[in-house]
Amino acid sequence: MSLQNDISLDARKILLINDKGNYTIPTNGLYPFQWNWDSAFAAYGFAQFDIPRAWKELETLFSAQWINGMVPHIIYHQVDDSYFPGPNIWKGIGPIPSSGITQPPVVASLMKKIWELDTDYGNDQIRLLFPKVLKWHRWFMQWRFQEGLVFINHPWEAGRDNAPDWDSALAAINPTGVAPYKRRDTEHVNPVMRPTKSDYDRYIWLVQQGRECKWNADWLRKNSSFKVADPAMHFILLRANRDLRLIGINLEEDISEIDSWIASLEKGASKLWNTSISSYDSFDLLNFNFAGSISSASFMCWYAGLYDKRMLTHYDRIMKKVKYGMPSYDPESKRFDRKRYWRGPSWAIMNMLIGFGLEEVGELKRASLLKAQTNRAISENGFAEYFDPIDGSPAGGNTFTWTAAVWLGWAKTMGGANGFN
Ligand code: SER
Repeated sequence: MSLQNDISLDARKILLINDKGNYTIPTNGLYPFQWNWDSAFAAYGFAQFDIPRAWKELETLFSAQWINGMVPHIIYHQVDDSYFPGPNIWKGIGPIPSSGITQPPVVASLMKKIWELDTDYGNDQIRLLFPKVLKWHRWFMQWRFQEGLVFINHPWEAGRDNAPDWDSALAAINPTGVAPYKRRDTEHVNPVMRPTKSDYDRYIWLVQQGRECKWNADWLRKNSSFKVADPAMHFILLRANRDLRLIGINLEEDISEIDSWIASLEKGASKLWNTSISSYDSFDLLNFNFAGSISSASFMCWYAGLYDKRMLTHYDRIMKKVKYGMPSYDPESKRFDRKRYWRGPSWAIMNMLIGFGLEEVGELKRASLLKAQTNRAISENGFAEYFDPIDGSPAGGNTFTWTAAVWLGWAKTMGGANGFN
């Protein structure tokens, strides 16, 4: 059996190890609950060998949906003290103990791919999930959309926790009054690979702010101390709406509302363009400034269906600097940090989404290079949470669900061109 087949068996094993029956944890110890976008990727991974289990994952995720439509970013199905902050810090207001924020809505797009793998089995499931996903997207458009831009109320909402994109917006927050707390993440992972204490104080301070208003979406929209438009969130939601629209057409549902969202998001995308760095960038809606960030989020435009050739110049420049792309941050920036979570390391999930986009707009050579580099990082270093983009060394947690899922659903097949550089 070839090495690549062995790796595929290992990838399946990772999913099974992290499988809790109806949902999957990202990895034991560091993240012992159900995470929103991790779960969507897990479902896509399962779909490569167990379609019913894939749908079960999404069903469980939506069992935690709030009445207002939000789908929380962490769902605490059971008690586990190895993680902080737990449900009593968040005091989410949904049917199952949860956090109070959401995460990038990759569900619709991955759900469509899962359905396409077996439309017979998936027909009932997708009919059940369609209205729930629609309600979640409606929540985004009502509570996280302003001046044409999708914004986040917490860095954890973006999933890119400590990206330099949020540095100046976080610096404007004075975390006085944050209750004493004990981090658990740095007991599982080397602190140089994790966010700083200054970041964490502000993360917890923002959780307290949300908890105090009982996660009132209207209050937070008007008063949150953190409101930053995120290109990844914007592009992922735009793409998700395009996919939800196609699902809706197939189910003979009314898609006019989704059409209007697509039009608003397409129009708003141009406002994320920062001319001073010639790139899509994050924009702080409270302090009215761009972050000055060229990050992996900036390259999600193609995934959103916008064939913007202007980003190819940055793309090629950055990919020439590393052997295991796509780094989460521009390696030529002073803020680049090759080991620290979202400030430099490469993430398989981002690569897959960027890769889908590149393939779809016809940039096949670039897509295949990215896939080959992802394949090599995993083949050489296992299913790490993320990878050092310079030498590919594993970083963060290990035995990671979404890295295994990306292997099974994308990176294991390298296609024609061998893109190793
Ligand atoms: N990624 C966050 C953490 O590190 C939470 O979503 O805990």
